[in-house]
Amino acid sequence: MKEMDANKPLGLTPALGWNSWNTFTWDINEELIRNVADLFVTDGYKDAGYEYIVIDDCWSLKERDADGNLVADPAKFPSGMKALADYIHAKGLKFGMYSCVGTHTCAGYPGSFEHEFQDAALFAEWGVDFLKYDYCFKPRHISGELMYKRMSLALKNSGRDILFSACNWGEDKVYDWIRESGAHTYRSTVDIRDFWDSIKDLAISQLDKTPFTGPFSYNDLDMLVVGMNGGSNDAFIGSKIGGCTDIEYRTHFALWALMGSPLMIGCDIRNASEATKDILLNRDLIAINQDIEGRGAYRIKPEPNWFHNDEVFILVKVLTDGDLAIGFFNLSDTPREVPVLFWDLGLPHAAGFSLSLYDCIEHAELGSFKERFAPVVPAHDCRVVRAKLVR
Ligand code: GLA
Repeated sequence: MKEMDANKPLGLTPALGWNSWNTFTWDINEELIRNVADLFVTDGYKDAGYEYIVIDDCWSLKERDADGNLVADPAKFPSGMKALADYIHAKGLKFGMYSCVGTHTCAGYPGSFEHEFQDAALFAEWGVDFLKYDYCFKPRHISGELMYKRMSLALKNSGRDILFSACNWGEDKVYDWIRESGAHTYRSTVDIRDFWDSIKDLAISQLDKTPFTGPFSYNDLDMLVVGMNGGSNDAFIGSKIGGCTDIEYRTHFALWALMGSPLMIGCDIRNASEATKDILLNRDLIAINQDIEGRGAYRIKPEPNWFHNDEVFILVKVLTDGDLAIGFFNLSDTPREVPVLFWDLGLPHAAGFSLSLYDCIEHAELGSFKERFAPVVPAHDCRVVRAKLVR
């Protein structure tokens, strides 16, 4: 496996990190963020490649100051954002913040409309490395496309490398214009929620969107709910009774990894179980997600293979070194055999190769296979293999 390169260009591969929203929504403060930074180092997240620690909505006061600047809420962030950024940077990590194209953020705090260049300058001054840019309260008379072009230009000229993470929920034909805007990554889905049907619906909604993702402009399927176990303080996201099984969370992580989404942890990593850590720190899946060519995964065409439908499918990602990452997903409620014919991968039998398969979840070699591989996948589960051509 290749080591992560800390100096690679901004947005070359999907962002890896943590975001405060899914679990904490409005209930954020500097101690929490510092704790997350500490745990990134001590619990192995940093070593696995996670780098961005992002504060989502609800970090500011409800009004700008007399100069029109955003003000960090002193009750939540008494040391200020610059000090927090310094703390995060001292650990070799990167700091992310949140704003919105509109007059207000989705939670009603000041948005960046008509303050784009001023806010970008302030973020740069604070040492921000990542900006998530939401879509609420968008002025009706200006296109979303122009709004994202504006902030992109402001960030690129702020004097600091700031990864631009657009968040317009896949609306307004975003696929047609986002790459040109300069955004490094863009939400291509509605908001995720911490239960199985949400994960399943988001994944299925992206099956025909894989050609759009790629270096410097990745489809973002939303932050991970892995390990939340119904633990959000927001009823809409988590609804305390929500949550998924660890197998469902594992399938969620594998889908996001293979589909080239940013992997932004959304759980409370202060209480992460061993099962949660196993999922989030799966280096074989992270390596597939971070493959340097950043190709979208293709879906084996549903026809004429009778077993394929929107709930049972195979995704294949062509990797830089010639290997194939193959995900066998069974989102249905009963166990299914999910066979792949190597012919459908572009490997005719006459070419004389077998595929040597490595299981990226069990971290084990499976041996060499000719012509086909047909795992039986339990309900809501998946298999992901890395396939190498061998004579
Ligand atoms: C929107 C975004 C979420 C989150 C909230 C914050 O719903 O899609 O990811 O940032 O706003 O209010």
